[in-house]
Amino acid sequence: MDFKKNQLINISITDLSIDGMGIGKADGFAFFVSGAAPGDYIRMQIVKLKKSYGYGIIKEIINPSPIRISPDCNSFGKCGGCSLRHISYSSQLEFKRSIVKNNLVRIGGFPDSIYVNEAIGMEYPYYYRNKGQYPVGTKNGKTVVGFYAPRSHNIIPIEKCMLASESDSAILKTITSFMDKHGIAPYNEADQTGILRHILIKTSHKTSDIMVCLVINSTEFPFIEDLTPLLKRVGVTTIVLNINQKNTNVILGSKTKIVFGSGYITDYIKDLKFKISPLSFFQVNPVQTEKLYDTILSLADLKGNEIVFDAYCGIGTISLFLARKAKSVYGIEIVPQAISDAKENAKNNHITNAFFYTGPSETICPDLCRKNILPDVIVVDPPRKGCAPPLLETILRISPEKLIYTSCNPSTLARDLKYISPTYVPTQIVPVDMFPHSTNVETVVLLKRK
Ligand SMILES: C[S@@+](CC[C@H](N)C(=O)[O-])C[C@H]1O[C@@H](n2cnc3c(N)ncnc32)[C@H](O)[C@@H]1O
Repeated sequence: MDFKKNQLINISITDLSIDGMGIGKADGFAFFVSGAAPGDYIRMQIVKLKKSYGYGIIKEIINPSPIRISPDCNSFGKCGGCSLRHISYSSQLEFKRSIVKNNLVRIGGFPDSIYVNEAIGMEYPYYYRNKGQYPVGTKNGKTVVGFYAPRSHNIIPIEKCMLASESDSAILKTITSFMDKHGIAPYNEADQTGILRHILIKTSHKTSDIMVCLVINSTEFPFIEDLTPLLKRVGVTTIVLNINQKNTNVILGSKTKIVFGSGYITDYIKDLKFKISPLSFFQVNPVQTEKLYDTILSLADLKGNEIVFDAYCGIGTISLFLARKAKSVYGIEIVPQAISDAKENAKNNHITNAFFYTGPSETICPDLCRKNILPDVIVVDPPRKGCAPPLLETILRISPEKLIYTSCNPSTLARDLKYISPTYVPTQIVPVDMFPHSTNVETVVLLKRK
């Protein structure tokens, strides 16, 4: 059948795409439909046609899927934050489990029989984020903050986000009202004018610390001494400026200046205490982080005499949990500020057998091996792009008995597991839902040397 733009067709949705769109087939032609759920039977309008697939929008849900729920956020569908709010939480977890499996089969070349555990979910999947990163712009002459619309830099203003920390909305309102009162212009991407680009808020889950980091296209924020007491009143315990004067999509610049307070927040994961600086990575879902780290620790099954490498260690969170069960742990991380936090975190938690190194894991790990520090267990937790090939080469060369791969991207996980599959076999695959209502999924894999 020849399809035409704007044509109306009825279609059954049978699957979900990696970015949460419903997928249905008509005459062998795949259609991607935003907001559609597997099991829906819909009338849709074709809005875009490519050679072998197309895009549609829902005109009518003729028969709703049993897993469909009514989205509980007014901005769902407009804001790029959540993509699965129309699907029950238990079905979201099942979907994430299938994403992991599909990637392992399709990209990793593993057999269809590969077993992936049920995803570990949240009991209350709301208000879980300890970090909010909000772009700032102008709408109808007023300063607005919110989230970008999907695949654009158009800001969808948000009064209250059900994923963010509950204190964020009062902080954002204080800053935008202050800017309007004092005529402080938000940054304008088109001509690179204006001051405030993003507001970054980091909130401690277990202490009352809240950090506001104003990302500015300048070296100063006007009238900051007047804004400080207003932010203190809504619970902010420290304020920092991050200077980013480049014409770039990268949110944070490399320079920060403390305006008020310590310049960092303190939080706990279980009984360990962590110092978190503005530029350091810290897992965004503190409730699930405890489950994630418990999973890593239980899969590592340390007996007390092991040397462990923790590559991509951030501020040393996993390293310190492992150190209490191992002979020694070597944490490696590329961001200097994170390593300085990691060293301080070890000291504050009275842990003396964790050692930290600044630099790329792919060069520091082989360096340590050359110094005859040879790990029994390697833990890797890389960013979305996965492990650098030289690190995988090092792992294959020294081939420790156990490897634990923690990943936030199932496709690069599958690619890397395929690369090391001549030597390593995955024996446990555990998805952990760190990001409810989005399609992102974290996975912990235990690999054993063949
Ligand atoms: C997903 S985070 C994991 C952090 C930590 N394991 C945790 O659970 O908080 C990945 C970390 O890798 C760091 N990183 C990125 N590229 C790196 C590289 N080539 N070598 C070492 N660390 C790197 C990032 O700065 C970030 O802290």
